[in-house]
Amino acid sequence: MKISVIGAGYVGLTTAACLAQIGHDVFCSESDAEKLNKLQNGLMPLFEPHLEKVIQQVRAAGRLTFGTTDQAIEHGKAIFICVGTPPLPNGDADLSAIERVARSIAKQATGYRLVIEKSTVPVQTGSQLRKHLAVHGTNAWDYDVASNPEFLREGSAVEDFLHPDRIVIGVESTRAAELLREIYAPILKGNFTCPVHADCKPTKEPLLLMTDTNSAELIKHASNSFLAMKISFINMVANLCEVVRADVTKVAEGMGLDPRIGPSFLNPGIGFGGFCFPKDVQAFIRIAEKSGCDFSLLREVEKINQERIAHFVETIRRELWVLRGKKLALWGLAFKPNTDDVRFAPSIALISKLMEEGATIKAYDPEAMEKAREVLPEVHYCADPYEAAEGADAILIVTEWAEFREVNWTRVASIAEHRLIIDGRNMLSAKEVTCHGFHYVSVGRSSHGPAKEPVRDAVRQPEKAESEQVNLTA
Ligand SMILES: NC(=O)c1ccc[n+]([C@@H]2O[C@H](COP(=O)([O-])OP(=O)(O)OC[C@H]3O[C@@H](n4cnc5c(N)ncnc54)[C@H](O)[C@@H]3O)[C@@H](O)[C@H]2O)c1
Repeated sequence: MKISVIGAGYVGLTTAACLAQIGHDVFCSESDAEKLNKLQNGLMPLFEPHLEKVIQQVRAAGRLTFGTTDQAIEHGKAIFICVGTPPLPNGDADLSAIERVARSIAKQATGYRLVIEKSTVPVQTGSQLRKHLAVHGTNAWDYDVASNPEFLREGSAVEDFLHPDRIVIGVESTRAAELLREIYAPILKGNFTCPVHADCKPTKEPLLLMTDTNSAELIKHASNSFLAMKISFINMVANLCEVVRADVTKVAEGMGLDPRIGPSFLNPGIGFGGFCFPKDVQAFIRIAEKSGCDFSLLREVEKINQERIAHFVETIRRELWVLRGKKLALWGLAFKPNTDDVRFAPSIALISKLMEEGATIKAYDPEAMEKAREVLPEVHYCADPYEAAEGADAILIVTEWAEFREVNWTRVASIAEHRLIIDGRNMLSAKEVTCHGFHYVSVGRSSHGPAKEPVRDAVRQPEKAESEQVNLTA
């Protein structure tokens, strides 16, 4: 089918590439001239595993073209809107990019169009779109509007798109339902060449959930808000564990073994970030508010998350006493591993707070430094984790990149000023790092390692690392 995708960001680019991969003839538009120029010249404007390879293959096969939004409106019978819906100062989703696209479609379409919202939008956006297309239409074409929320995760976007748990479709007409079934048929039937797995045999078929547009729109906001709630819940349990000297890892494991709870999203840390959870929770609170429902539960979820950075800074202060003049190595900038995305990343708020307090930061991230530099140009960015750790009073782990588990701890121990690791993601093995003389502090667990006061003493007595499991955090 001839399909258009509007907006070549994390979602749009993945959608365009994967729809081309499963056999469709896709045109993808991008309004940012620099990004479009890169894409047209075979360069990537963002990092996402597997995506570059898929784009190269489908472009070579002639199934994916990049260009302007006007060309996209001309090309596709089905048009996926994948533009950003960032938060406004009051928490509402900013729908201006969606509105601009709808207006262009209404003015320029040269035939029937199925307009599909893939961007995350507030409930009833579909009805507004229908009205808008009718009001601004300068021709007699009719439209269908459908909601098809996207559940992919940055870092595994291609895999998630091609092997989803479920595909949610909200429609108001049989014509729209049939077209969307046709678009997703290869994925539903497992009938495509998987670019991720060499011998791809998915264990279960994705479920197709057909519903009305309002319900589909709500499914997306409710799902993200629920997951954010799970994260804030375990983060509060972690705070409690630190006070009563319990181990949040064990508590989470025990909870997750209950199938009604499940183990995912029970990893405590320095809070959720990225372009989805923070803004979607805010938007959902506002949607409820405007509908007369006081969703105060979600206000708490947001508040707990916002307090994570202050809590982490207090942990650092407890270990280092005075922050002014301290040299801190920050490992990880992206809001999660396997992406270069730093939008609403905890690292940004953390660095700002630490610099405000007079600490100097040397940061390293395998993929996100270019994007972080745009937001925080004053930070010293390093070529590898070792350069960041050189002379550091503490190493702060902010993103759980697998690379940080593989570092040569003997080398790190020899170049750091103090052997102190504060792991904001609970990703390291306490046993391994304490063996190298590090004092190891994590979230919601007792501290591990050599004597804490002063940290310099711990450096002088690495042989005590294994025997002394002193509980210092609480
Ligand atoms: N990033 C995720 O993990 C994720 C997952 C699920 C859903 N979503 C939702 O998908 C939407 C897009 O998210 P994203 O992360 O891809 O955002 P993004 O900012 O990376 O991408 C949006 C792109 O749309 C482009 N754009 C804006 N107006 C345009 C126009 N008129 N014509 C052509 N291009 C235009 C922007 O320049 C930008 O490149 C948001 O609503 C988001 O909430 C995101």
